[in-house]
Amino acid sequence: MVRYKGILEQYFVELKDFYKFNSSTGLATAELSFRPFLDNFFANLCSYFGSNIQRIFEPRNQGKYGRPDWAFTDSNTMGVYGYVEAKGLSPEENINVEEYKSQVEKYLNLGNPVLLTDGIEFVYYDVDGSADSFELFQKPVNWEEPEYNLQTLERFQKFFSKIGFRTIPEQMVITELSTRAKLLCTDLLELLNLEEDEAESKSELTTIRTLKRLWDIAANNLDASLSDDRTFAGFISQILAFGLLYAHRFINDEKFSPSLKYEMLHYFWTQKPYKEYSDHVEPFVHLFNALSEELDSKLSKIGGWYDNTRRFLAFVKLSHNAVRRPNFHQLYEEFLSAYDRDTRIDFGAWYTPVVLADFIARLVFFNIQVNPDLKILQNNPFFVIDPCCGTGTFLESVLDNITLPPQSKLIGFEILPVPYALANYRLSIYEIPTALTLSVHLTNTLGDNTFCKPEYDFSKLDSVGLFFAKEQVASYKLSQPPLTIIIGNPPCSDSSVTNAGQFLESLMNDFRPPIRRGRQNVQMQLTNEWIKFLRWGIYKAMISKPSIIAFILPSAFAENISFKYARKFLIENANEISVIEFDSDNRVESANQNVFNTLQGRLLILASFTADNTSKFVRYKDLRGLSKAQKMEFFSKDVTALDWDVLSIDEEYSLRPKGEYDVELYSQFIPLAAEHGSENGIFLRHCSGMKLAPTHLLVHFSKGQLSRRSKYIGDLAHSYSDIKDRWYSGQAKPPAEKKLSNSVRVLVARSSKNGSQYSYRPFLEAYVNDDETLLTALKNAEGGGMRYRPEVRAAFSDPNVFGFAVAPAPAEISRTITKFTSFCWHLPDNDLATREMLMCSAIVFRITKRARIGTLMRFQI
Ligand SMILES: C[S@@+](CC[C@H](N)C(=O)[O-])C[C@H]1O[C@@H](n2cnc3c(N)ncnc32)[C@H](O)[C@@H]1O
Repeated sequence: MVRYKGILEQYFVELKDFYKFNSSTGLATAELSFRPFLDNFFANLCSYFGSNIQRIFEPRNQGKYGRPDWAFTDSNTMGVYGYVEAKGLSPEENINVEEYKSQVEKYLNLGNPVLLTDGIEFVYYDVDGSADSFELFQKPVNWEEPEYNLQTLERFQKFFSKIGFRTIPEQMVITELSTRAKLLCTDLLELLNLEEDEAESKSELTTIRTLKRLWDIAANNLDASLSDDRTFAGFISQILAFGLLYAHRFINDEKFSPSLKYEMLHYFWTQKPYKEYSDHVEPFVHLFNALSEELDSKLSKIGGWYDNTRRFLAFVKLSHNAVRRPNFHQLYEEFLSAYDRDTRIDFGAWYTPVVLADFIARLVFFNIQVNPDLKILQNNPFFVIDPCCGTGTFLESVLDNITLPPQSKLIGFEILPVPYALANYRLSIYEIPTALTLSVHLTNTLGDNTFCKPEYDFSKLDSVGLFFAKEQVASYKLSQPPLTIIIGNPPCSDSSVTNAGQFLESLMNDFRPPIRRGRQNVQMQLTNEWIKFLRWGIYKAMISKPSIIAFILPSAFAENISFKYARKFLIENANEISVIEFDSDNRVESANQNVFNTLQGRLLILASFTADNTSKFVRYKDLRGLSKAQKMEFFSKDVTALDWDVLSIDEEYSLRPKGEYDVELYSQFIPLAAEHGSENGIFLRHCSGMKLAPTHLLVHFSKGQLSRRSKYIGDLAHSYSDIKDRWYSGQAKPPAEKKLSNSVRVLVARSSKNGSQYSYRPFLEAYVNDDETLLTALKNAEGGGMRYRPEVRAAFSDPNVFGFAVAPAPAEISRTITKFTSFCWHLPDNDLATREMLMCSAIVFRITKRARIGTLMRFQI
């Protein structure tokens, strides 16, 4: 009590000084000005009641009907004690409560008590609206001899006695849960990397054992990517965090107290009333069960995390809107981006807008109705599969937009546990006609289990193992023919994650050139997951004829040389193909009107596979010039009246019409590589600059020093270590001794005067020993590695040639051209050619197979 009196006295003195000073200036009642003293009073009060009480002062909202001026919360749970709203200082009169009635009612809707104050008098409103007022010092205030009201301590005690719900925006809950999931993931990662004998306590040992057992089951039964510790730790932490978020949605009964909610968050997974909801996220239930001892233990790291997160959620109240109509797609996207951008990128988890998915479903259905070879499909059940279904958007669109014959089947496959669970949940609340079956499975579509029957000894599996095994068996069965509609938006990640099994890897050869020629890095992109999904889809469609595929793919598929043989395979095996390009490639032109927020452009491809595939037909439509709003409008329109361009199939199997360019002028340029059997090309097949091995034997930035060093090396009286000490001291990569045979050294000396200018790196010019015999000798030397590009050297051997200009290929000529013609003044190093993405495009020696080259001698640039 003495301490409380001290707090009141301090506040009084500060208030008095303020009041006296401002009375003389006539500003005494300004609402804002006395708040710092009141805030100080609250600070003292909070520390009087306990260190957990957090006061959040929001003076910016002063005077607005926004949020109250102060919020008092518990720092552990984030639960709320109540709010304070301050009005102008009024030492003589009572607060006119009527004036602030509607504002107070609004704050009471947040579900916690509200204190209305003028700095001296406090009106305490309980959540039921009942009011009660008290004064810190008797009014009218006697500024010389105040009458302190020490009973007010009890009132404040009451205010701080109960932590209540906290209504916070959904986004904040998600961010909080994502942060917690990330922390848990780090802890799990550490535990997974401990050996049993490294455990610090018995409970840690149990946690390690439990986790490793689960890890083993998941990696052996779901997919190999889970054998990576980071992926597995993410898998568990995502399920636990998102599982709690999911459970929280269903225990939002107004009547539940925070402590009841805290309990229910745990019982959600096992108790009857919630079974209807928890059943939809079966792997979650298995995991919560498998970890139940850990979750129950306050000593375990996982248990501590679980307790803390439940505490946080127990005090969170979601807005009515969020509870009634949760948008789980959006919720999960937000969760995943806040949780870990890398996971999102690795699995290409970018979701399709519903308008676009609906459009695709309508277009598929329209095709089935009008394509004479597909019409027959209508007489039988449809077998629809989205092999990468995410949260189930396409399956919903099919249900909404396609008239499905009785006995039709809808199947979804998904590798990540959270979208898988959400797809199951969402689809379960759909009214699905009994004549249809729908199921979503947790599986790696690209793995061998969708091609070869998995074998399990079920008797040896526990409940978690059994669950995974059942999923694999189901996904094998469900991916067998017929699959008549294969629809989806495959993951377009550039990441190194690859989930393809051996069976699919061997099918990928159909997308490669018939003869694989040495070091063809144009094939690299076939490692991307989307192209594997395309191969998967074509394989399944071809064994299910008549059938149709509808996929969203990167627009590079339309024309990029890496996918030439994939296009060839598709065109040769499909009956009709329709392509709609809708997003631009951000690297070619501005992409701020794109439907997808990614770097790559996007297109939609529809391909039908029928018994008679002789009639080839490729339709094309380009929406890339439209604004995002116009694209969305287009997708919401009728699909029956689309006007298409018809594409003729060229030697590149291009799925995009050629851009407009001056054909005559372009034909005067020399192609970089021989095209279509013509011999008129600079390079035989693959374009690049010179690759010198060893570079530092042949290149120097000073012509004089190059000549001097060459002579020194050529003098056989000098030993290898003399050469190293004299010319390469401190260098990480001196030429290897084995490269410096006597004959090479003699040739080096002989070519000492032949220094030609060399473009080593952008802006870095050097000199090179440009001697055919020397270069050939090094090419044949042990270790090889030398590619001296006779084509390039030949071009420069003409004394009139002083550089190359490389024009963009017609395919690169876009509506908003961003590719520059590039120049190279000297013999180019290979690295210069490959570092094409450098900002200084004008210097870059950009060589693409279809670009052409003009010598400056022949063309005025
Ligand atoms: C671009 S999202 C599309 C999701 C959903 N179909 C949509 O359009 O909204 C790709 C989805 O494929 C999933 N995925 C990635 N690799 C997979 C694999 N090997 N097997 C099954 N699903 C996979 C990702 O987790 C992600 O949810």
